[in-house]
Amino acid sequence: MNGKLLWLNGEWMPFSDGTISIEDRGFQFGDGIYEVVAAYGGRPFLLAAHMDRMDASAHELRLRSTITREEREEIVCELIRRFAQDRCMVYGQLTRGVSTRGHVFPADAPPTELWYVRSLPTYPDRYWTDGVATITHPDERWARCNIKSTNLLANCIAKQAAAEAGAFEAILLQPGNLVTEASAANVYAMVNGVLRTHPLTNRILPGTKRGLIMGLCEELGIVVEERALKLEELFAAEEVWLSSTTVNLVPVSKIDGKQLSAARWPVLEKLLARINGLIHSQAPVDR
Ligand SMILES: Cc1ncc(COP(=O)(O)O)c(C=O)c1O
Repeated sequence: MNGKLLWLNGEWMPFSDGTISIEDRGFQFGDGIYEVVAAYGGRPFLLAAHMDRMDASAHELRLRSTITREEREEIVCELIRRFAQDRCMVYGQLTRGVSTRGHVFPADAPPTELWYVRSLPTYPDRYWTDGVATITHPDERWARCNIKSTNLLANCIAKQAAAEAGAFEAILLQPGNLVTEASAANVYAMVNGVLRTHPLTNRILPGTKRGLIMGLCEELGIVVEERALKLEELFAAEEVWLSSTTVNLVPVSKIDGKQLSAARWPVLEKLLARINGLIHSQAPVDR
């Protein structure tokens, strides 16, 4: 098996054997939610935070699952065990299931749920020595970005614009040049010695790495202010960062082709050392 294994609606199977109906509401309407969990040394990282967010997203959309949280956690752990690699990521999706196409929620459609595992992407070391380039892009998403919905079209459009500009990420701007987050990451800046990031509202996804960073800041005595940043503030900031499950915590060196004044990232380095310490302190894979 090329490492691909799938759990779909209660059955284990090779990834290539998985099929979904054309009338699945995830396919027809993007009527679903998802999670991405990283695992290191055979153990999921921040699993409880991912499960909490999945429960919250399901609750917001009145999506129900046929399995319990404990069963879902066991599926995630089983995928990681069977994949047996030091670094991997588990993807899960829950949709409102299959029914004759119609906008109204079906009363009795059984939900579709799937989970699979693959390698965790790796990024070049220069991302951490030089920082990553970003662009800005209008935040064209809906007004419920706190839900980890599979509706990612506006995120894809922004990330595509970044890729076409040779940049790693797109920083999303609401009117007034207010920074919400990036297409697939949360955004932070050190401004006058204070860590600023967007508050947890309907405008951003509550990142699991963001949650960890907020906790570590408290532990390390880094003052945090959860208040939206203006684009101009990013240009003047001491440090600008992005965080996500897959890229971890990475510094930003450029926005829209302009070099930021921030060229060293001492606060990021302190936090990253703590995060990597937690990642590497995880127990080895149980084969
Ligand atoms: C829009 C958006 N914001 C933030 C994040 C970061 O969330 P997490 O730290 O849980 O990966 C993601 C992750 O994919 C995302 O898609």
